[in-house]
Amino acid sequence: MGEKERDMTVNPYQVEGKVDYERLVKEFGLEKINEDILKKIKKAIGKEELHFMLRRGIFFAGRDLNWLLNEYEKGNKFFLYTGCGPSGPVHVGHLMVWYFTKWLQDKFDVELYFQFTDDEKFLYKDLSYEEIQKWTEENMLDVIAVGFNPKKTHFIIDTKHAGLMYPQAIKVAKKLTFSTIKASFGFNESNNVGSIFYTAMQAVPAFLPSVLKKKKMPCLIPHAIDQDPHFRITRDILPKLGYYKPASIQCSFLPPLTGSEGKMSSSSEASKGILSTDSPNEVKNKINRYAFSGGRDTIEEHKKLGGNTEIDVSFQYLKYFFEEDDKKLKEIEKDYKSGKLSTGELKKYAIEKISKFLEEHQKRRKNAKKLIPQYILKT
Ligand code: TRP
Repeated sequence: MGEKERDMTVNPYQVEGKVDYERLVKEFGLEKINEDILKKIKKAIGKEELHFMLRRGIFFAGRDLNWLLNEYEKGNKFFLYTGCGPSGPVHVGHLMVWYFTKWLQDKFDVELYFQFTDDEKFLYKDLSYEEIQKWTEENMLDVIAVGFNPKKTHFIIDTKHAGLMYPQAIKVAKKLTFSTIKASFGFNESNNVGSIFYTAMQAVPAFLPSVLKKKKMPCLIPHAIDQDPHFRITRDILPKLGYYKPASIQCSFLPPLTGSEGKMSSSSEASKGILSTDSPNEVKNKINRYAFSGGRDTIEEHKKLGGNTEIDVSFQYLKYFFEEDDKKLKEIEKDYKSGKLSTGELKKYAIEKISKFLEEHQKRRKNAKKLIPQYILKT
């Protein structure tokens, strides 16, 4: 391993260094989403446009997508599975994955199982059980605000659905050794025993619907790339239990405000991003104060030489999430690179788009509490 290669760690519990996605594809053994896959998705969803996160390669890799789409074409529908670790406020990096998941649910007209891993966050974070329960409810409001179809969306809360999950989790756990866990997550002898067991719980929703409906069903998991080690384990074990390996569709990380290294995190103060509950004023302050700029030091220099959109966080936010319109994005890119558009102007535009988006989200979030019971998986 060269010095450069050691700089990056990406697993569910640690994302550090500049993330090299090409290298991750190789190391994890992922399939990149190519034109063929995109065509197949397009065919499956009819005349609809592909989601911009697919067009722009934000969701860029996966596993067994070809198989999944073939099955869908044959009339063998999949279900979606994604989740949330409730240890803090929801930020726009979470929302990005969930809004994309909603698009998948709508276009493919499928069921979604949404896991809240309160057990995981209790075991891994320095937070009390009560604090985690508070975040679980708070985070549910955000998931509901995304607008998932309540008739087709089922929340699984690990400690609340324990009676349903535990018999399945032990079937996974029995096929899993401590040495696999150590190798997959970088653990050692001093990790608590709950955290060693936990991945068995994250495997369960990938086959629980098959258990409940007493028929083997394909599963598609949309997630950010750091969760892949969990699902590599899941994929190894599920066929041994008589189920399909889950397919996945994976995205790169929305960059933290301060620049391009690592991922956003709701727990670390330094990388705290824009939160789902931020007011327009908070969005404005965060973008103006912290959003890393790809612009030049002086206006004169910027006008002459232009800015760098690759490293400009405001531009990246528009590209990843907040500017759906390709034409508009291209225009912004061109103008920023040529120096016609200043950092101040770009930030102002990003602030408007993000605030507008969050205002809509927050309106739905306000009404979400009374809807919780509708979403919780009935057992
Ligand atoms: N472990 C994830 C987290 O910490 C939560 C999660 C559970 C998840 N199941 C999932 C995320 C499935 C994506 C897909 O956030």
